[in-house]
This record gives sequence, C-alpha cells and structure tokens, in this order.
Amino acid sequence: MTRACTAVLAFAYALSPIAPVHAGDAVAGKQKAVVCSACHGIDGNSINPLWPKLAGQHAAYLAKQMKAFRSGERKDPVMAPMAMPLNDTDIDDLAAFYASQTPK
Ligand code: HEC
Repeated sequence: MTRACTAVLAFAYALSPIAPVHAGDAVAGKQKAVVCSACHGIDGNSINPLWPKLAGQHAAYLAKQMKAFRSGERKDPVMAPMAMPLNDTDIDDLAAFYASQTPK
C-alpha cells in the first residue's frame, strides 16, 4: 500500500460517521449539567428508576438521544422540554461529561 493510499484511508476514517466528530468539553458539560442533575443525579447516577442513568454511557449515544428529544423523534413529556434549548455544543459537552462519569 502506498503512503498516499494510507493517507486517503485515514482521511476517510476521520470523516466516517462512526468516529466521534465533535469531542465535547466535559468540564463545560459539568456546569451545563446542573439543571439535569435534579433528575439524572449529580454524576449521572440517577436514584429514581424512572430517570435513566447517564454515567458511563457512550458520548455518541447520549448526544444522539438528546438530538432525538430535541427534534421530537424521541418523545417524552418530561425529557423533551429539557432538550429543546440545547445547541449542538451544549449536547456534545453534556455527552462528554456524562460519558466520563463512573456508573454506580
Ligand atoms: C425532570 C426530570 C429530568 C430532567 C431535569 C432531565 N431529564 Fe433527561 N431524562 C428524563 C427522563 C424521564 C428520561 C427518560 C425518557 C424516556 O423514557 O424516554 C430522560 C432521558 C434522558 C436521556 C436518554 C438516556 C438513555 O439512556 O437513552 C438523556 C441523554 C438525557 N435524559 C439527558 C438529559 C440532560 C443532558 C439534561 C439536562 C439538560 C436532562 N436530561 C434533564 C428526565 C429528566
């Protein structure tokens, strides 16, 4: 394989939807998560079975779910209004924060 070919493959991988494109900022996400902690717990470990644990879930999954709530694709009368005001940066930061927490 030529060096140029390797470079093309690396570039294709970087653009692949499987690779997380936006790496969120977990420190910023922690500040944005204050409102979320009422239900999901300070570190994403909810103690109420009605509210899912977010700690340690994959960031890409968490971001996908928040976007689905925001768009109305995933419906929940409690969670959907929480996702409405979030922009893509908020979502990536929140996802990075919860993904970095330890599930308990
Ligand atoms: C008033 C309680 C409440 C608050 C506050 C809240 N959520 Fe939720 N959240 C829920 C509930 C309930 C669900 C589960 C909805 C369902 O059953 O589909 C949920 C689901 C989720 C999910 C999907 C989890 C999964 O495993 O699929 C994510 C991600 C999420 N919330 C993030 C957030 C973020 C980020 C915030 C703060 C901006 C937030 N939530 C604030 C109640 C809340």
